Amino acid sequence: MSMTYYINVYGCQMNVHDSEIISGILESESFSSTEDPESADVILLVSCAVREHAETRVLGRVSQLGGWWRGRKSGKPLMVLCGCVAQEHGDSLLERFRDLDLVVGPDCYRDLPRLIRGSARMSAVDFREGDYTGIEPVRTEFPRAYVTIMRGCDNFCSYCIVPYVRGREHSRKSDAILSEIAALSEGGYGEITLLGQNVNSYHDGETSFPLLLRRVASEARSSWIRFVTSHPKDLGQETVKVMASEQNICRYLHLPFQSGSDVILKKMNRGYTTREYLERIGMLRDAMPDIVLSTDVIAGFPGESEEDFQKTIDLLEEVRFDNAFLFKYSERSGTAACSLEDPVSEEERLARLNRLQDLQRRITVEKSGELLRRTLRILVTGPAKKPRQQAGRTEGNRMVILEDTDFNPGSFVNVRITRADGWTHFGEPCGSPER
Ligand code: 5AD
Ligand code: SF4
Repeated sequence: MSMTYYINVYGCQMNVHDSEIISGILESESFSSTEDPESADVILLVSCAVREHAETRVLGRVSQLGGWWRGRKSGKPLMVLCGCVAQEHGDSLLERFRDLDLVVGPDCYRDLPRLIRGSARMSAVDFREGDYTGIEPVRTEFPRAYVTIMRGCDNFCSYCIVPYVRGREHSRKSDAILSEIAALSEGGYGEITLLGQNVNSYHDGETSFPLLLRRVASEARSSWIRFVTSHPKDLGQETVKVMASEQNICRYLHLPFQSGSDVILKKMNRGYTTREYLERIGMLRDAMPDIVLSTDVIAGFPGESEEDFQKTIDLLEEVRFDNAFLFKYSERSGTAACSLEDPVSEEERLARLNRLQDLQRRITVEKSGELLRRTLRILVTGPAKKPRQQAGRTEGNRMVILEDTDFNPGSFVNVRITRADGWTHFGEPCGSPER
């Protein structure tokens, strides 16, 4: 019997891509997708557990769906919680939410069709060796595509729940990655992002990350290549060399520093000092003076004094990242940081977050302003939010809005920047599209 499913995703790019894999698994077993939760036979939520706020949001949605279906003509849909919150809490969620039918962790998605067709309310949350090679993901973001190169994380940063919910690090075989890349390039995908919790420690037994990156770049010459996330302790000179020498690898890097204080970095178990971090930034800028940089920062980690926090401010000022993702520390149960003394009050965490945001907003605006009247190449991604607008991305991952244009998604176009509004820019095409 054919069933329809509705899928809703929360969290990072890894989750977005996991939801494409889940769709691939379901559609290969004759499920079909619907945009309308009203009529769906199955509702799947792909959850994120990295901060408490993300978890509260998805669990709020689970309990809201519980009440909602009672008014529905087609009766109760099967409700499935996937992703990191599923892995974190397992069975206990079935007790807590009476309308939830299945709880399925990130390594168990291949079981979904069987579990959905079975009648048992249950959880599937074991860690497994295999990956999702062989599954054809249902890609939703043409001309942008994600390719997982590794899953899991062995770093155990003391604040982070990821190693507990995504398990140990394992790399996919480079041959499987390269054939996926070849198919995407053939399919006209203009941007391919390699995904992993810590891509720099990719190793499949034969191929290291820089080597993989070089091969990917030559396999997909007419696509832009990006990769996330990099860890400062593992970002080596070789990778920087490959980035600088391969034309189609974006001169863009997301390199989280988390804190500007060495005392806090040590407590976070990050494995580098600020000096070492700044050396990496220097190495990147020496090799690629125009590289666009973004980062992640956590404010109010346990024991963070005003002096420690000031060092984070100083580092943001010194590097002047083009963009930064700023978070206040969120305690995740089971992580090492839970047992640290001297928590920073919620009020103070929020105040520090606000200070970081004010500073970064100013830097982002200043850096965007520098692009005014410059000509940049963008990849047209599709319609923007407003009518008669199209959106695109620069190599540095900045969004550019075009007005009254009609390019095919996947075209590369040169645009002159006419207006900048933080991370979003407006531009006018100059010259004809390049494909
Ligand atoms: N509290 C706040 N931020 C966190 N991150 C990860 N765990 C936590 C936490 N417990 C942030 C880090 C990481 C990004 C993905 O999320 O900055 O780089
Ligand atoms: Fe979490 Fe650290 Fe692994 Fe990133 S590297 S996923 S922050 S443990």
